Amino acid sequence: MFFPKYRPRRLRRDEIVRRMVRETSLSANDFMYPLFVVSGSTVRQPVASMPGVFQLSIDELVEEATEVRDLGIPSILLFGIPEAKDEIGSGAYAQDGIVQQAVRELKDKVSDLLVVTDVCMCEYTSHGHCGVIKDGDVDNDATLDLLAQTALSHAEAGADMVAPSDMMDGRVGAIRERLDENGLFHIPIMAYAAKYASSFYGPFRDAARSTPQFGDRRSYQMDPANSKEAIREISLDIEEGADIIMVKPALAYLDVIRLASEEFDAPLAAYNVSGEYSMIKAAAEKGWLDGQRVMMEVLTSIKRAGADIIITYFAKDAVRELEKA
Ligand code: PBG
Repeated sequence: MFFPKYRPRRLRRDEIVRRMVRETSLSANDFMYPLFVVSGSTVRQPVASMPGVFQLSIDELVEEATEVRDLGIPSILLFGIPEAKDEIGSGAYAQDGIVQQAVRELKDKVSDLLVVTDVCMCEYTSHGHCGVIKDGDVDNDATLDLLAQTALSHAEAGADMVAPSDMMDGRVGAIRERLDENGLFHIPIMAYAAKYASSFYGPFRDAARSTPQFGDRRSYQMDPANSKEAIREISLDIEEGADIIMVKPALAYLDVIRLASEEFDAPLAAYNVSGEYSMIKAAAEKGWLDGQRVMMEVLTSIKRAGADIIITYFAKDAVRELEKA
């Protein structure tokens, strides 16, 4: 059937028809909200390149987490900014590290909120790389033990899920083994499985103070030009025990999200990263874009591409927008 018998505009006439035939819809359940914790008290330090995002001390974090829970967002993704950094990132796996303390407090004060912790070394190392350095590059195998230790310390503090973001080979297996040896076989792993060496992480590195002090992350994060490699990376992580897989960033990688959702049946997360957030905020501030609408369009596109979970700094704004509708 073709025009003039078939007229696709019939099903676009008004909002109620559009609502009836809509293929993709967002809800609070889709989102995971990233948060940054620092030491001190009553600290609510704005991140200059990410309007609306703050570095929070634990007391403020608890308030923020309560608000997230009250909005119906199921989970947060927690990043720590330690007071001191060293060559081996000791703050990442310290019993009384910033994340470990924050998790204890959150699990004590905010019920019904899933606390997922980012497992990586880059915020904790003086050189800003995601592992220990040997001969000018990150030493993969030596890093695995420290990542496993970090994940264990998070889970022991009460984290509900751990999320390794380092892109070392074998880290999901190493973490699974360490958790299981310690009786933490019920803690799921959300693996940053296909994580690209992206320039969209720029604002995050301000927020987390994790810019590499030399070189870049291209010897461990993926080449943006590759998608078959994403399938290999994700397969490996699933083999090693990943419960949830992730593609990161999201917007410039919607094709990879779609591929991954067709290829694998594990729940798929997509990380709508800092740069994707900041560029919309910046354009909106300049009055060049309608920030709210562009936000909803972008989040819808990530879901439409096949993501089950969207990790986004927009989570709270998006839920408020959904509540208006
Ligand atoms: C840590 C990590 C990064 C992000 C999440 N975990 C930064 C990086 O790899 O440099 C980026 C998140 C964002 O840009 O929002 N390795």
